[in-house]
Amino acid sequence: MACTLTLDVSPPVHHWMNTTLDRDAFKKTIPVLAARVPASKTGSLLKSDVMKKSLMDLPKVHSVLRDPHNDLERLILLNVSEDAALTTEVHNFLQEQSAMLVTHNLDLTYDHWTADEILQSILPEELCKGSPLGFAITGHLAHMNLNKEYLPYKHIIGQIKNPMIQTVVNKLDSIDTKYRFFKMELLAGEPNYVVEHYQSNCHFTFDFTHIYCNSRLHTEHDRLVQHFKPTDVIADVFAAVGPFAIPAAKKGCMVFANNLNPESARYLSKNIIDNKVASLVHASCEDGRDFIKEVVAHVMEHPFPAYTGLKLSKMQEKDEKCRLQLAKPSQPAALAPVDQSTVKDQSPCQANRQLPSDV
Ligand SMILES: C[S@@+](CC[C@H](N)C(=O)[O-])C[C@H]1O[C@@H](n2cnc3c(N)ncnc32)[C@H](O)[C@@H]1O
Repeated sequence: MACTLTLDVSPPVHHWMNTTLDRDAFKKTIPVLAARVPASKTGSLLKSDVMKKSLMDLPKVHSVLRDPHNDLERLILLNVSEDAALTTEVHNFLQEQSAMLVTHNLDLTYDHWTADEILQSILPEELCKGSPLGFAITGHLAHMNLNKEYLPYKHIIGQIKNPMIQTVVNKLDSIDTKYRFFKMELLAGEPNYVVEHYQSNCHFTFDFTHIYCNSRLHTEHDRLVQHFKPTDVIADVFAAVGPFAIPAAKKGCMVFANNLNPESARYLSKNIIDNKVASLVHASCEDGRDFIKEVVAHVMEHPFPAYTGLKLSKMQEKDEKCRLQLAKPSQPAALAPVDQSTVKDQSPCQANRQLPSDV
């Protein structure tokens, strides 16, 4: 949070806190100077070039408040606590606007600060430099990878989370040797590891504790899928829960998606159904070596039906019907004089169509 002029808007320091995050301990009240003006003058004060550098500009703080004593007046918060800190120019301008300078007690609470600022006020100074708040979010779950010096603080670090995150885990060193997923421990929140993740216009469900998935790879998934043509047949040897296979099928490709981990294969099958691409993806659960050996023969023996174009959504089908209707050759009656009263009475398809002149 930007600290302006003489105001100390940093969170209170609590280096003693190391296991339980006490959000109430972050309440803080700071006296700030405010200009009390008639409500009608608020706009001119806020827009004035003279005032620009003196107005309160803090995230999550309303800089214009109703005056609790007079409904017709407003308090415009300034970024200083004493009038001595204002320039003569600002003083003169405020006088011209019939503004009165008063002190307003600004209450700041835990939610005013970023996770990183809270962390800096909790951790011992020697750990503040390389603060460990790098984390990846997948659905409702945040996943951290803490270095060992932060481990004594892992539970309190886990509690500094945004309200959308319900579960925080820390990746452990150990990795499952067969299926390559990471073991993890719960740092904070609910022990609910089945996540709903949205990526590339697709919806994925999977159990984070038993499946390798890195949501940070989504640009790589998109990049590769962009190269596929709808007429391609794709074989994904290590398909996990479908981040390549399902977007590829949505594009029109036929896909063989394989993964050795039975949990992965189970969620892959669910995701194929949930994303309505069951007619285009064939899922399997076998060793990649066997899959590679067999997949080409499998395509030869059981060829996919010829590509007939991407399956249209209901909306696209409706548009296509309209397009065909409009493309029909004109009837002889069209040569009759145009009755202007019917012009506005277009069918919904005509009304929806964007004409070149509308662009
Ligand atoms: C790095 S992850 C794949 C990630 C996925 N392609 C993605 O982009 O998110 C490797 C996957 O291969 C699976 N796997 C490991 N050994 C395998 C094998 N011998 N045959 C098939 N799948 C295997 C693991 O279960 C894991 O899901």
